[in-house]
Amino acid sequence: MIKNKSICDIGFIGLGVMGKNLVLNLADNGFSIAAFDLDISKIEGVISQDKAESGLSTARVVGCSSYTELLACLKPPHLIVLSVPAGAPVDQVCENLIGAGIQPDDIVIDTGNSLWVDTVAREKKYKSNFILFSSAVSGGEVGARFGPALMPSGSAYAWTRIKPIWQAIAAKVDAKTGKPIERTKPGEVVTEGEPCAAYIGPAGAGHYVKMVHNGIEYADMQIICEAYQMLRDGLGLNSDEIADIFQGWNRGPLESYLMEISVEVLRHRVGEEQTPLVDLILDKAGQKGTGLWTAVSSLELGTPAPTIAQAVYARSISSFKDLRVQAAAKLPGPPAITFDVNEKEAFIEQLHDAIYSAKICAYAQGFQLMKLAELEHNWQLNFASIAKIWRAGCIIRAAFLQSITQAFERTPDLDNLLLDDFFAEQLSLHQLNWRKTVSNSALMGIPTGAISSALSYYDAMRCAASPANLLQAQRDFFGAHTFERTDKVGKKYHVNWSTPVRDMVEIS
Ligand code: 6PG
Repeated sequence: MIKNKSICDIGFIGLGVMGKNLVLNLADNGFSIAAFDLDISKIEGVISQDKAESGLSTARVVGCSSYTELLACLKPPHLIVLSVPAGAPVDQVCENLIGAGIQPDDIVIDTGNSLWVDTVAREKKYKSNFILFSSAVSGGEVGARFGPALMPSGSAYAWTRIKPIWQAIAAKVDAKTGKPIERTKPGEVVTEGEPCAAYIGPAGAGHYVKMVHNGIEYADMQIICEAYQMLRDGLGLNSDEIADIFQGWNRGPLESYLMEISVEVLRHRVGEEQTPLVDLILDKAGQKGTGLWTAVSSLELGTPAPTIAQAVYARSISSFKDLRVQAAAKLPGPPAITFDVNEKEAFIEQLHDAIYSAKICAYAQGFQLMKLAELEHNWQLNFASIAKIWRAGCIIRAAFLQSITQAFERTPDLDNLLLDDFFAEQLSLHQLNWRKTVSNSALMGIPTGAISSALSYYDAMRCAASPANLLQAQRDFFGAHTFERTDKVGKKYHVNWSTPVRDMVEIS
């Protein structure tokens, strides 16, 4: 290709693992790319990989050595995709594009995990320079290469331009079965099926939805890890035995990408002694912040997401390795419990039902959070469409997202997934085993913060009479915070607790 001739469809900035794979995915789908990265070896890398994979003598990707050259290579109005770390690097690239002469009708798409409020601020900040559009990508490096889930939001005009490109490169789902359509080889394209890319809403909405996706991802991962610990420490199973159990579970309602990769991880062995890798990995979890943001947002909006928050706390607790080792030597646990063969089978079945139920609650919390955010920010989210996007390509893709899709298709304004007939029935069917698992974990001294918090959430949600009546009285006692009465609706009262008479006054 000849440089500086305004011939490329898309400019691409940031050729890390995700960026490189998105470029190759775009190229497979027939789009020509002008690519830039500060690291020239990454530009060379994507060009040679493209040539090798396509078998063409000329690459479908043009390497650019500056922002100015990148803009010169693009058909106007320019469409530029960013795959750079969230935070300051996004602003740095935006400023560089302004310096290079980007125009007000050019579109810049931020595909990173930016904090949604930053996206809202950026859209305003750069309005006179270019159109900032956001579209978080989920699916890791394989998803980026062969079909990610995309959560686009921002200018409706920009979406009309981006839509055909996004729908081409996104993961696809068979409309009848709701199952992902596999695409695994370079050069392959999938043109049929429903694309996992639909417009989410105004600026920030897409990044908010991706943030909640990640919060659910944290919960889902933690629930699986707790099941692993129950089987490892409770039943004394080794990683192969646990992998066998997870593999069986992956054929039922728990079928999911996260369960599938857990099986692969548990079976992976290394070294001369063929030690399971998982037994060698240090038990300190990392986190980049999206789970934390989700938990913080739930607290700010006042909508419960305890299972997501517990998953964040579990990562925090894991990071205090030295402290945990000290405490392990000092703090006794309960006496050991042993199980006979039949009891072991029952334990495993109960655990299956517990993690299924906990998972439903984690999704219920995530969707309710999005609903509250929608009301707060006037976004008009389409929850069936969001569930559809998550059926393939993304990290939380799972068979039961089809059931969530159907729940929101039946009742688009559903307040909480637990109120859907299908999910209410599932929880009712599995609750006894869930309770047994939580009780087993307490008796064995195995932490199951996510699974247990989900059960508390379930019980709190189905509790028509909470103990908050006493709490309101306590608040009124020490702080004159007033309370409402069930027998006198719409009025507020205070008791003069510090006087001997303790008379009650109506507060106007
Ligand atoms: C995805 C992932 C992706 C990334 C997370 C991991 O949807 O593809 O969620 O965004 O893996 O950022 O986050 P932590 O490092 O916080 O686990």
